[in-house]
Amino acid sequence: MPTIDFESLQQLFPTDADIPEDARLPAPIHQRVSLVDGELVPWDGACKTVLSPVCVRQASGEAEQVAIGSYPVMGETESDAALDAAVRAYDHGRGAWPTMTVGQRIACMQDFIRRMVAERHQIVNLIMWEIGKSLADSQKEFDRTVSYMQDTIEALKEQDNSNSRFTIAEGTIGQIRRAPLGVVLCMGPYNYPLNETFATLIPALLMGNTVVFKPPQYGTLLFYPLLAAFRDAFPKGVINTIYAPGAVVVPHMLASGKIDVLALIGSSKVADHLKKQHPKSHRLRAILGLDAKNAAIILPDADIDLAVKECLLGALSFNGQRCTALKMLMVHRSIVDTFLERFAAQLGKLKVGMPWEKGVSITPLPGLHRTAYMTAAIDDAKAKGARVVNEGGGVFCQTLFYPAVVYPVQEGMMLYREEQFGPIIPVTPFDDVETALQYVITSDHGQQVSIFGTDPAQIGALVDPLVNQVCRVNLNCQCQRGPDVFPFAGRKDSAEGTLSVTDALRAFSIRSMVAAKQTDESKALLDAMVTDRKSKFVNTGFIF
Ligand code: G3H
Repeated sequence: MPTIDFESLQQLFPTDADIPEDARLPAPIHQRVSLVDGELVPWDGACKTVLSPVCVRQASGEAEQVAIGSYPVMGETESDAALDAAVRAYDHGRGAWPTMTVGQRIACMQDFIRRMVAERHQIVNLIMWEIGKSLADSQKEFDRTVSYMQDTIEALKEQDNSNSRFTIAEGTIGQIRRAPLGVVLCMGPYNYPLNETFATLIPALLMGNTVVFKPPQYGTLLFYPLLAAFRDAFPKGVINTIYAPGAVVVPHMLASGKIDVLALIGSSKVADHLKKQHPKSHRLRAILGLDAKNAAIILPDADIDLAVKECLLGALSFNGQRCTALKMLMVHRSIVDTFLERFAAQLGKLKVGMPWEKGVSITPLPGLHRTAYMTAAIDDAKAKGARVVNEGGGVFCQTLFYPAVVYPVQEGMMLYREEQFGPIIPVTPFDDVETALQYVITSDHGQQVSIFGTDPAQIGALVDPLVNQVCRVNLNCQCQRGPDVFPFAGRKDSAEGTLSVTDALRAFSIRSMVAAKQTDESKALLDAMVTDRKSKFVNTGFIF
């Protein structure tokens, strides 16, 4: 393994001439518009420069984050305009979009997908440059999102077709369908800026809601190529964008009482604060993906090589910047030395470099504040008795941070409870499995857990309490969200609501029904409405 030090990491940053032609952005993107009420409204106010996590070595030899563009910094006036446009487009449920047939909405979405796919190359490059995700993972994020959209359309057809019939109970005829909720404020995270934003935005739109969309702090420009597609594929005002510091405009929008659904992938602290701003909080539906600190419990009879492989993937995919990442490894004391040795050896084989490099695993973090946080967390653990186990762990140069395995991490250290959301792997030993169980029970988080072991009796005994603590127990594999048809949820501070291809359609809608007494008059009335297509809600049509 080559020596890891400041200089060797610095040499991994390219000079401008080293950047391969096909990985370059053709030119910086200086976005000066926002999408409001079906128009790309020009902006000539303040703008924010976007610095890439990628640094470029200068003539001096020093590496500096490269500027890749800029976007508007708006305020309350502009967020009011975006919100009012969404409110008008919804028009108390009478707007063109919420009253369209499901088939018509699907046609608009398919048109949007066609336009989006045409922008794949530019969007993938922007994901890579804006958040430092590897090219392969950026491509995967784009393609997974398109598949998710197509699967959601199929799920909606299925749902609508199964509701295309009347039900008769106790002398009452009813037709039950899912109806929209109103205006949705959509905010995604920086680590999956496209995919997780669209995991809420797309089902919200398909169900007939109108949307105000605020892009994440890192991962804003990548939506620029989609603004015209949004404008052209959907009726005006159905989707509106706002570019502004969240703390300035988001509480303000919620305090207006005009937002019906808060869709946020972010922190529980922010979510708690925002929910309280709504004047009638019972009217606000919240769909939240929040903090997590998923643990791996590695039992004495575990296949160590398998556990090492999965934990490495789980802890370090996209530098550990996944809500589902394994953020605490609890290893039985009898195998902890072997585990640490093999884990550090495998970690040493991971390629560190720039996102466009083939086979790269560890890439730059979004800003210097992140390497500063990682360093503070390691220093805190060291001061309290832990050590960095792997060669070069915790060394950094600018945004590039070499992963650190920290052992033994204990209660009282930042790394024991805080969600590090980065390339640090805290490891703690346990003697009694009850200690590992207690860690999960006493955690503020409740998303997922991984168990590594081979004894059915012991695993069975662990699974039963754990499924009541988290929402997914992974056996001999890392934690993850996919496949996207599976429910993605969390307890405690980790989530509110469930996302998946089908669950998200339910989350952004409510069941509504038309009912009538089972009389000849009612039958004739409903029959005429259906035959003469007098209602879009009351119909027995089938979407193919
Ligand atoms: O960051 C949180 C994501 O939902 C994780 O998704 O498990 O597919 O990487 P993933």
